[in-house]
Amino acid sequence: MRIGVLTAGGDCPGLNAVIRSVVHRAVTHYGDEVIGFEDGYAGLLEGRYRTLDLNAVSGILARGGTILGSSRLERARFRAACDNAKELIEKSGFDALIPIGGEGTLTAARMLSEAGVPVVGVPKTIDNDISATDRTFGFDTAVGVATEAMDRLKTTAESHQRVMVVEVMGRHAGWIALESGMAAGAHGICLPERPFDPADLVKMVEERFARGKKFAVICVAEGAHPAEGTMDYGKGEIDQFGHERFQGIGTALAYELERRLGKEARPVILGHVQRGGTPTAYDRVLATRFGWQAVEAVHRGDFGRMTSLRGTHVDMVPLAEAITKLKTVPEDRMREAESVF
Ligand code: F6P
Repeated sequence: MRIGVLTAGGDCPGLNAVIRSVVHRAVTHYGDEVIGFEDGYAGLLEGRYRTLDLNAVSGILARGGTILGSSRLERARFRAACDNAKELIEKSGFDALIPIGGEGTLTAARMLSEAGVPVVGVPKTIDNDISATDRTFGFDTAVGVATEAMDRLKTTAESHQRVMVVEVMGRHAGWIALESGMAAGAHGICLPERPFDPADLVKMVEERFARGKKFAVICVAEGAHPAEGTMDYGKGEIDQFGHERFQGIGTALAYELERRLGKEARPVILGHVQRGGTPTAYDRVLATRFGWQAVEAVHRGDFGRMTSLRGTHVDMVPLAEAITKLKTVPEDRMREAESVF
């Protein structure tokens, strides 16, 4: 068989582990040829690809990023180019395509599948917000990075009697904030799922200082927002790429708390450091299992589906299921965190 693989959307620790696993299983076990498209769907549409043999994937298991490169493609552009992609795949004699990516990538994979391309998807995102899988690889690494950062910030916060507001990734779902905040023992956690009131955070910090704990660390997801009318939180400008550029909730909240408390506060934006570097053992294992199962699915002809972790078992679910709704943090998980929202 001739199998194409690509990585699209934001990168994520564990992508290389999937690529390696696909190549090992397909080449060594089935004698397949594996082709890697460069820079996500852009490489597919432009016919940019290279052969991936065992040497090409040697030594990449522990490497962050993706050896194939990645890109984000506008949905409309992809939809328009879908027929070309199908033609290119047919002409080049591909028997299957394995796109590895998040919601946008899996949506494009579904479009290809509906256009008749044999597709097996592999979900990825550090945000862990894809429904139809219990976990995505990359999440464990991101939580580890954010937890370590907060552990470190606690000691410097304590030395200077400061409030640290740590902004972590998660535009629509607060999984990273929830789990890293819990793991680090953050004194407040703010999630996109539930608007927060800065007055609650002020009260929490004042109570801590009153009982002699003269510092606090608050973990805020980038998509968290204050409840209506509780804090002046302006919108930013739209940049040349159509993204909204504003100071971010972490910075806005740190300055708001400083003003209300009359104590020093510092914003710390962890940003893309959460997506970089080596994946944890958990993410390497999950990514390797997904790659292995994707090749098995290709050989069974189980197309239009993606790998999914259900409990401890890797299953296959329809691509349609993966992209219907975002997996957000449920109420009971927020309550367990026993924090101030
Ligand atoms: O979806 C993964 C993610 O890391 C989000 O948590 C974050 O909001 C976004 O990607 C950042 O995207 P970019 O790399 O385009 O800045």
